Amino acid sequence: MRTRFLASVACLSLVANPQISLAAPPAGPALDAAVEELLGRMTLAEKLGQMSQASRQPYADHLRDTKELVRQGALGSILNATTRDQVEEFQRIAVEESRLKIPLLFGLDVIHGYRTLFPIPLAQSCSWNPDLVQKAARIAAVEATAEGIRWTFAPMLDLTRDARWGRIAETVGEDPLLASRMGAAMVRGFQGDDLSLPTSMAACGKHFVGYGAAEAGRDYNTTLIPDTELRNAYLPAFKAAKDAGVLTYMSAFNDLNGVPTSANPRVLRKILRDEWAFNGFVVSDWTSVDELIPHGFAADGRQAAQRAIAGGVDMEMVSPHYRTFGADLIAKNELPLAFIDDSVRRILRVKFQLGLFDHPFTAKETPRTSKNPLSAEHLAVARELATQSIVLLKNDRGLLPLSSATKSIAVIGPLADSGDDMRGCWFCESSPGDTITPLAALKETLGPRAQILHAPGTKRDIDDSTDAFAAAVKAAKKADVVILCLGEGRDLAGEARSRAFLNLPGTQEKLFDAIAATGKPIVLVIFAGRPLVFPAQFAKARAVFYAWHPGTMAGPALADLLLGTANPSAKLTVSFPRTVGQIPIYYNHRNTGRPPQKENVGIPMGTPQDPQGYYSKFIDVHSTPEFPFGHGLSYTTFAYSDLQVTAPSGTNGTLTVSAVIKNTGSRDGVEIAQLYTRDLIGQITRPVRELKGFERVPLKSGESRTITFNVPASELGFFNEDGRYIVEPGKFHVWVGGSSTATLIGEFEL
Ligand code: NOJ
Repeated sequence: MRTRFLASVACLSLVANPQISLAAPPAGPALDAAVEELLGRMTLAEKLGQMSQASRQPYADHLRDTKELVRQGALGSILNATTRDQVEEFQRIAVEESRLKIPLLFGLDVIHGYRTLFPIPLAQSCSWNPDLVQKAARIAAVEATAEGIRWTFAPMLDLTRDARWGRIAETVGEDPLLASRMGAAMVRGFQGDDLSLPTSMAACGKHFVGYGAAEAGRDYNTTLIPDTELRNAYLPAFKAAKDAGVLTYMSAFNDLNGVPTSANPRVLRKILRDEWAFNGFVVSDWTSVDELIPHGFAADGRQAAQRAIAGGVDMEMVSPHYRTFGADLIAKNELPLAFIDDSVRRILRVKFQLGLFDHPFTAKETPRTSKNPLSAEHLAVARELATQSIVLLKNDRGLLPLSSATKSIAVIGPLADSGDDMRGCWFCESSPGDTITPLAALKETLGPRAQILHAPGTKRDIDDSTDAFAAAVKAAKKADVVILCLGEGRDLAGEARSRAFLNLPGTQEKLFDAIAATGKPIVLVIFAGRPLVFPAQFAKARAVFYAWHPGTMAGPALADLLLGTANPSAKLTVSFPRTVGQIPIYYNHRNTGRPPQKENVGIPMGTPQDPQGYYSKFIDVHSTPEFPFGHGLSYTTFAYSDLQVTAPSGTNGTLTVSAVIKNTGSRDGVEIAQLYTRDLIGQITRPVRELKGFERVPLKSGESRTITFNVPASELGFFNEDGRYIVEPGKFHVWVGGSSTATLIGEFEL
C-alpha cells in the first residue's frame, strides 16, 4: 500500500486534465486483497468509525468534536462539507493524524447541479432525453468533484402518485420504465466512465424503498405496499441503477408494511444483496437509525443500532448509535462481527474504487479548469435541458410563439424575476444571483424591439396582500400581451413540503383574476415543484407553460420558447389531477371490475344519479386526469398512422411495433413518440397501459418518418404473487402515440 501511495504521488505533477485518471486503483482480486489487508489491521472501534457519518455543521463546538472524531478514526464519512477548504480541513486530519490514515468520503446532495443548476429532476424527466440528463449529471459531478466531493446523494428514484408529497419534485416521474432510464442515465453521468477519475463521484440510489407512497402524501409517513406492487412499480428504477453500476443506496425514512426501511432485512438484505448481488454499501438517511425509536421499532439507541446493522444498513448518517453501542453489541453477542466486517468491506471497497487512498485530495490535485462552475459549456447544457423540460399545455389560436408585432409585454407575477425561486429544491452551492430570470432574459433578448413592463403583483408566492395588484393591472393594460409568472417558489417544494391544497398559493388566484379582467391575452407560466390544480386559470389563459423550477438558465430557456427560437417538445411525466380528491392518480392503474364508462363520468353534483352509474368513478368530477401522463404540445402538430405489429416469436423473442409519424404543421419540431402495451389477462390484474418504449423524433414541417420499437418479450412480464418474474403467453393491446391516451391501437398474441 505504501509503495502505491509513493508511486502515484510522483505522478501528480503530470496531472492537469481532470479527464486523466490519477492512478488506477486496485481492481478484482487486488481490490479484495487491499480491503482485507486493511480490515485486518482495524480495531473494532475503527470499523464502527468507518460505518459512521457526521454532518459538517456550522457550529464551532460541533466542528471541534467532529474533527476529534476524525482524528480517532471514529468517522468514515462527512456530509455537507461543500467547498474545497472545508473538505481538505477534515481530510488532512484523516490522512495525517488518524492511526490508519483512511481517507474520508465526502457526500453532498448534488441533486440537480452543484453551482450550475439544471431543472429539478421531475422537470428533467419531462425531456424524455436520458442522454441530455446524463450530460447534466456529468457536469454536476465535474463541478462538485472540483471541490473534493466524491459522493452525491442522487439519483432519487422514488416513485410517487401523489402531488401532495413535496418530494415529487425530486422524482423522475410516475412511470417505472422512464424512471429507470432517467435514473440509470444519472448514475452514468455522476459516476462517469472510470470511477477513479478525479471527476467521478459515487452515486446513491435513494430512498430505498417505497418512500414515495407516504400515506396522504405527508412526508415521512407510513407506507403500505403489496409485494407485487413493490416489485412491479417501486423497485425497477432502483434495479436499473444497480445495473448501471450504482455504488451506494440510501435507506429511507418510512416504515414499509410495518418495518422501517432503515432496519429492514427483507429489502436491504434479501432483495438488494441476495437477489441483486449489490456489493456497494447502504447509508441510512439522516438520523433514520435514531428514528427507529419514535417508529416504535427500537427502545433506545442501542437497540436502534442493533436492528439497523442487522437489517443491512452499512453506514449511519448523523446519529451516533453505531459507534456508541456497536462494540457492546458485539461483546454481548447481540450482533455477529461478520456483519460489521461485511459493512466495512463494502465501504472500503468504494473508497478504493474512487481512488481515494492514493488521492485523498483529488480537488487540490486537479486544477480548476474552464469546465468548472457556470462555464459557457455548462450553461449551454443547462439552457438546453431547461428548454426541453418546459411543457406547453395550451396555445389557443396560436398565440405563441409571440409575433414580432408584439411591441409591449407585461411580465407580471412574484416569480417573474426571482432568481432564488428558479433554483428549485436542491440548490446546492448556487446563488440566486447566478440565475437568469424570465424578466432579465426577455429584456436581454428583446432589447429595444419591445417594451418590457414589469410588476410583481405580489411580493412572494405566499403573500396575502393585494396592495401591489394595482401596479400590475396598470402594466397589463399598457401591454399587448401579459406573461404571468405564477406558482410555487422553491421553498414550497421538496422535503417536508407536503401540501393538502394544490391551488396557486397566496393571493395568486386573485391576482390572475385582476389581470384577466383587463382582457389582455395571458400567457400563464407556472413554476412549481409539483403538479398544481388551476382549472379556472387554465380556462382563461390563452397559453400555458408548465415550467417547473428550471434552474440557472430558467429565463433564457423560457424566452427561447416564448419567442419561438425553440419549439416546445417536453411531455409530462406525471398525471395532473383535476382536484386533490382524485389522488392517487396515475396512468398505469388497474382496470377494476367496474371501470368508469365514457357516458357517465363526471355527473355534476346535484343532478340525479345515472341509473347505470355503479362504476368506479366520482359523481362530482371526471375520473380522468386534467393532463395525462405523456402529454405536451408543440408549435407544430403530429399525426400517427400505419401501425404495424409483429408479435414476438415466443417468450425469448422480440415485439416489433412501427408507425408513421408526420409533422402536419408549419414548423419543424420534435415529437416524443411513446409505445404502450396492455396485457389483457394476467395471473394478477395488469395495468391498463404500460410504457414500453419512447423516442424523441425530430421532424421537419411536412416530413414523415417510420419509427420502430423493438421490445424483448422478456420486458412484457411482471412479478407474480410468489415474487417470481413471469412472462405470460396471451393477448396484448399495443398503442403508439404522443401521450398515454394515444388511440392508434393494435394487438398481438404472445
Ligand atoms: C435527508 C433527505 O431525505 C435525503 O434525501 C438527503 O440525501 C439527506 N437528508 C442528506 O442531506
